[in-house]
Amino acid sequence: MDAMDHDSGELQEVSAAEIKSFFESAPPLKDGDEINKKLKEFVERNSSATAPRVVCVTSGGTTVPLEQQCVRFIDNFSSGHRGAASTEYFLKAGYSVIFLYRSGSCQPYCSSLPDDPLLECFDISDDSNIQVRQSHAEVVKRVISEHHAAVSGGYLLKLPFTTIFEYLQILRLVALSLSCLGPCAMFYLAAAVSDFYVPWETMTVHKIQSRSGPLDMRLAQAPKMLSVLRKEWAPVAFCISFKLETDSKILVEKADMALKKYDMHMVLANELSTRKEEVIVVSKSGKTVVRKDKAQPCVDVESPLIELVVDRHSTYIKHSGDGTETTRREEDEILVS
Ligand code: PMT
Repeated sequence: MDAMDHDSGELQEVSAAEIKSFFESAPPLKDGDEINKKLKEFVERNSSATAPRVVCVTSGGTTVPLEQQCVRFIDNFSSGHRGAASTEYFLKAGYSVIFLYRSGSCQPYCSSLPDDPLLECFDISDDSNIQVRQSHAEVVKRVISEHHAAVSGGYLLKLPFTTIFEYLQILRLVALSLSCLGPCAMFYLAAAVSDFYVPWETMTVHKIQSRSGPLDMRLAQAPKMLSVLRKEWAPVAFCISFKLETDSKILVEKADMALKKYDMHMVLANELSTRKEEVIVVSKSGKTVVRKDKAQPCVDVESPLIELVVDRHSTYIKHSGDGTETTRREEDEILVS
């Protein structure tokens, strides 16, 4: 849930000092140099294209550790399906994708595989070699070849995170490295990021002892990085945030508030129980409901959703070049087509 001022119904402002203090006190990334190197290579390769289009898709939930030597943590429901499926459709649309995902969550191209692919798709053949079971041969071949083509072709960079500390630090590295692409860069922030956390410096080092009795803990508000992303890290990039609620009555109102407050280009609003069937696209030009086509059960709601997002991004790039704003009329035309 968001930080709400209950009297005014406004989302609270996050101060620059809070953001600075979050990063200064966060445990440093173990592989920060390696991530930066990969990002540099990825951006260099992709920015040399004639019309580069790069999107950072964030996916899955962040954990909130309760101990520095972490035994216990708070987690959330996100499976990463939205981010993984969206990544596939972005790649299909010609984008290069930085897939910032929660370790162990859904992966692009893997939705048609069984739950435990290693055990279910493979067998040991007579000569002790491993072979794909005939029943899964076609799908395994397709998944591996599409995935390898995207990664080895340099169109897909996968960066894993687990904790909220890792997620926000990597997001900042990605944003700073994509800022050179200006309006051709996009952020599609589908990750379910913790709103509450235990600041590293106040966290106990060792396992919390159960003999101390019932646990009484105060969680601090995790700073939302949407404003700083828009204003400082990648001010010209096309930014899409998500809004998740369980109460349909407040969903669109909250999405509208986020659109204005964080100056997002689009907010994709969804309800927990219907998120795989329906997404409400909220932008300055109004609201559009994108639905999964019931006649085609194998086609995800992400298919029409990404089509719409790509259209809006194209219009944004076009108007960034001539310095004009996207007009309401043009956005309406995109919705109709
Ligand atoms: O992963 P699935 O199971 O497929 O589900 C998809 C989804 C429901 C997780 C996805 O569609 C979605 O709605 N993701 C955002 C969920 C969420 O955290 O909503 P929110 O209303 O709490 O946050 C709004 C936005 O602020 C999000 O874009 C989030 O990335 C961002 N945020 C949140 C907290 C925080 N501390 N910093 C942030 O930047």
